[in-house]
Amino acid sequence: MHDAHNIALLRAAAKKRLPRPIFDFADGGAENEHTLRENEAAFADWSFLPRPLEGAGTRDLSVELFGKRLRLPILIGPTGLAGLYWPRGEIAAARAAAAAGTVYCMSHGSVCSIEDLAAAHEGPRWMQVFIYRDRGFTRELTTRAQAAGFQALVLTIDNQLLGKRERDLVNGFAIPPRFGPRQWLDYARAASWWWAMRSELPRLTFGNYVRAGSSESVAGLAGRMAAMLDPAMNWDDVAALREAWRGPLLLKGVMHVHEARRALALGVDGVIVSNHGGRQLDGAQASLRALPAILDASGGQLTVLVDGGIRRGGDAAKALALGASAVLIGRPQLWGLAVAGEAGVAHVLELLRAELDRTMGLVGASDIGALRRLGILTNISRPTPR
Ligand SMILES: Cc1cc2nc3c(=O)[nH]c(=O)nc-3n(C[C@H](O)[C@H](O)[C@H](O)COP(=O)(O)O)c2cc1C
Repeated sequence: MHDAHNIALLRAAAKKRLPRPIFDFADGGAENEHTLRENEAAFADWSFLPRPLEGAGTRDLSVELFGKRLRLPILIGPTGLAGLYWPRGEIAAARAAAAAGTVYCMSHGSVCSIEDLAAAHEGPRWMQVFIYRDRGFTRELTTRAQAAGFQALVLTIDNQLLGKRERDLVNGFAIPPRFGPRQWLDYARAASWWWAMRSELPRLTFGNYVRAGSSESVAGLAGRMAAMLDPAMNWDDVAALREAWRGPLLLKGVMHVHEARRALALGVDGVIVSNHGGRQLDGAQASLRALPAILDASGGQLTVLVDGGIRRGGDAAKALALGASAVLIGRPQLWGLAVAGEAGVAHVLELLRAELDRTMGLVGASDIGALRRLGILTNISRPTPR
């Protein structure tokens, strides 16, 4: 793992170790994967104009989010099925996040349950939910998260229908799963993953959906979860959740200024500018490109985060310099998990932290506020100092 000097090398190591359907499940995007590619490409829209004489001999990377200071402005975003990449993967990743001084956001679709994570993790944790056809189930998850000490609630609004992820269809990683000769071969090749997961696989499940006493299979559960999504969700649901959740509430998947303004009017505390890592609506704008308008619309009254395509500390620096309060990562965390569990996620966070720190030193920013204040970014289509 220590040969993985950047996230791309770690991705390559994960690709080697994982069965192809499981690697592709994380790596892939919807349809033509246009948005997936654009998320990463958008960071090249911006170049640095360094100010090395500003005095950045020491750098403070900490930020305050909802009254809590984090040592690192790079959070772990919600990713379903993290426990498929390493035994008790969610707990491993959450512990690595806590050690790095940042937030772990648990996905609704985690292998372990809300309660299992809370019992094994001390550190800042947020919970992500959807609006389900059965509104009572959304309420149940939020009540459980509140009781388990999760500090913020993230409502994802861009998953009301499942995106068409064609790598998963080809690989038979679908509902129901398909196991032809090619799939068996794909799994058989990944001996070290099998070995690590040997005692986990028989009890693999979606921990938050399991009903006491039920022996529903993981495929059955996945089908039930997909059927629970509600494309008819709307602002009334946001208002109801605002009433129910005592604490910071964020909407994830905000791309349009209207959504940001309406969220603000309803008392939502923060938005995550995101297109679900290009896994949902192919053709959606790159999240970094949507960020400036959302920041404008929020008028400083919403906490604005962004995710999608962050593969370098310098990418995080650009998002923060544009005005994001923090950023989140999805896939890089799963690649770290796949390679070395908790140590792998710790490695991902340390790679990104060190790159962000070096970038700040090189541009002359001694803290995250300075990244914003110093005007060190220029857009390549308007290449004048700001
Ligand atoms: C395998 C996988 C599972 C995901 N599951 C969820 C989820 O359950 N809920 C959610 O809001 N977002 C989910 N996401 C989206 C991430 O939270 C995040 O928006 C996206 O991965 C960010 O892009 P990046 O992977 O380029 O960092 C998932 C992403 C991946 C790769």
